Amino acid sequence: MIIIKSPREIELMREAGRVTALALEEAEALVKPGVSTKFLNDEIDRIIREQGGRPAELGYYGYPASVCISVNEVILHGIPSAKKILRDGDIVSLDLVVEKNGYMGDACRTYPVGICGERSLRMISIAKEAFEHAVSFVKPGAHVGDISHAIEEVAKKYGCSVPRDYTGHGIGSSMHEDPYIPCYGTPGTGPILREGMTIAVEPMILEHRNAVRVLGDGWTVVAKDGGLTSHYENTLVVTKDGYDILTRR
Ligand code: MF3
Ligand code: CO
Repeated sequence: MIIIKSPREIELMREAGRVTALALEEAEALVKPGVSTKFLNDEIDRIIREQGGRPAELGYYGYPASVCISVNEVILHGIPSAKKILRDGDIVSLDLVVEKNGYMGDACRTYPVGICGERSLRMISIAKEAFEHAVSFVKPGAHVGDISHAIEEVAKKYGCSVPRDYTGHGIGSSMHEDPYIPCYGTPGTGPILREGMTIAVEPMILEHRNAVRVLGDGWTVVAKDGGLTSHYENTLVVTKDGYDILTRR
């Protein structure tokens, strides 16, 4: 069941989204060679709480940290660790969900660490381009398949692929709601978007093949072929004639 949010609920989503965007912006300045992913996790946790929010990933199905921090071939759900030190040339994605006053904002960015080569910067820009292309289709009457197809189209254009088992999603008072928004699909298929729906659109990009594997910790998802990965996500609301992004200034 897809929940249509009231204007009051959308205002609450906007506030959760504001805190999400702020935490990402402040964290970006801390991404440098030599810092641990645990340090970034703790700083983001502090920023979220200072803003009256709660890091909603902490404890979600037992997830043990406040943020998912995924480096290079790790595409999703990297668990921050004091032992994982960022190195010059890495790319790192910060994926966080903020709950404030009962509503959620979910966003992810992939950042370069120090000086990155063309190969890494390209991955970052492909995820962003896939997002921008996908959301250009968002308006009442559009189908979820239009968004999904647009993501896959951009990935393919660069010889990249998308995971099959991890998707974008509706979001509201719960982190994950209907509809599920895969990163691949067929235009004109799937649920129809309506004004007041709130969704998280999240292109996840694999450099080469789409096969992934979950590590023994039960969370960390990596590209099986060891290629680079990138991820870009925002929470948005479907408006009368398009969309409004809630997790970006
Ligand atoms: N933030 C992820 C998403 O984009 C979900 C993280 S799962 C968690 O949907 F367990 F780590 F919280
Ligand atoms: Co999400």
